[in-house]
Amino acid sequence: VSPNEISLLGQKYNLDGTTNVTQSIISKLPLRLHNQPAHPLGILRSKIESHFHDFSHLSSLNPVVTPAQNFDSLGFPADHPGRSVIDSYYVNEDYMLRTHTSAHEVETFAAGHSKWLLTADVYRRDEIDSSHYPVFHQMEGARVFKTDEAAIEQVKADNERLSRHLDQSNIVIEDIPHISATNPAQPTHDPAHSELIALNLKLSINSLLLKLFGGGSRDAPLQVRWIEAYFPFTSPSFEVEILYQGKWLEILGCGVVQQLTFDNAGIPDNIGWAFGLGLERIAMILFGIPDIRLFWSTDPRFLSQFSENEITTFKPYSKYPACFKDVSFWVPETGLHENDFCDLVRDIAGDLAEDVKMIDSFTHPKTNRKSVCYRINYRSMDRSLSNEEVNDIQEKVVERVKDKFGAEIR
Ligand code: PHE
Repeated sequence: VSPNEISLLGQKYNLDGTTNVTQSIISKLPLRLHNQPAHPLGILRSKIESHFHDFSHLSSLNPVVTPAQNFDSLGFPADHPGRSVIDSYYVNEDYMLRTHTSAHEVETFAAGHSKWLLTADVYRRDEIDSSHYPVFHQMEGARVFKTDEAAIEQVKADNERLSRHLDQSNIVIEDIPHISATNPAQPTHDPAHSELIALNLKLSINSLLLKLFGGGSRDAPLQVRWIEAYFPFTSPSFEVEILYQGKWLEILGCGVVQQLTFDNAGIPDNIGWAFGLGLERIAMILFGIPDIRLFWSTDPRFLSQFSENEITTFKPYSKYPACFKDVSFWVPETGLHENDFCDLVRDIAGDLAEDVKMIDSFTHPKTNRKSVCYRINYRSMDRSLSNEEVNDIQEKVVERVKDKFGAEIR
């Protein structure tokens, strides 16, 4: 490859002014943790697939997509913030790393799948802490129905079957109306059909959650809460939370698929639902994994704890000491977004960066220049770091802040 090109999964791409993928991100593309059967993400994926056992199970789709796939085909407005280079990774102007599994909705419906699950690695620029990582894994699930009378009768029967099962189960559900003025049915839909599909979605998700998190005692039933949401590609839309250790935790987003998606997929005469869930968030709860970086560990002390089809509680091996380093600098005129700083840190420190926090910021009253101070917490999951090693890394971070962003160190 020439200096103006990169190779991603065997395909060459030109670099341009939009390019913001880093080496550390590129190195994740081939890993596909969700395809390892004895990895917590692979185990969770299998468990969800076994719940939706009569669905098509897809994975291994290329993470490099077009902005049209990731955004336009789903009706994202032209000025949606997710499109910006601040939030998303671009290979060049024409290609990006998918930010969600919904990027494959149109092609999957177009391929003729009427009930399907799709698991994939997704990429988002973000802060650095124990629950955020710029690569994570999502599972998209969807189901479509025809709108003729016989098909609608089938939905009704399916809803009754699912309701009966949930009625007998140890689950408490806080629900909201299937459709409402602020969470409306789509203009092309018969509202009665939209209600039935939303109900089918809710019942399907509630029974999945019961499978994943159920099993509490009668006095400690699983508590699930449905709340109104907004996504450009569904209406009505919902978010689902579960009560976990006294806190409501967001588990997934979902809704009745926008007509535009079906039109783009060439199957206009359908109605259906879709959901998207983050595997790490759920796996951290089910396996008791305290830091999101552990999913990327190749340490046998991590990997050997898990086996295929078994949800077991992670036993932490000793936690190595942390090491804080601060860096203060004058922000360049052109600005410097926290995501840019975090990507820089990750590119140099890799998974040794545990947490990055802005601990101070002020604007000079006379010159109007802005100064910030970031505290980087370094810690390895697998070993003790020496002071020299951390100093070395920190020095590289400082150099790069100067060189790449033209920031003046204080
Ligand atoms: N793609 C959405 C996200 O990543 C989740 C979602 C999927 C919402 C399908 C609705 C339907 O947040």
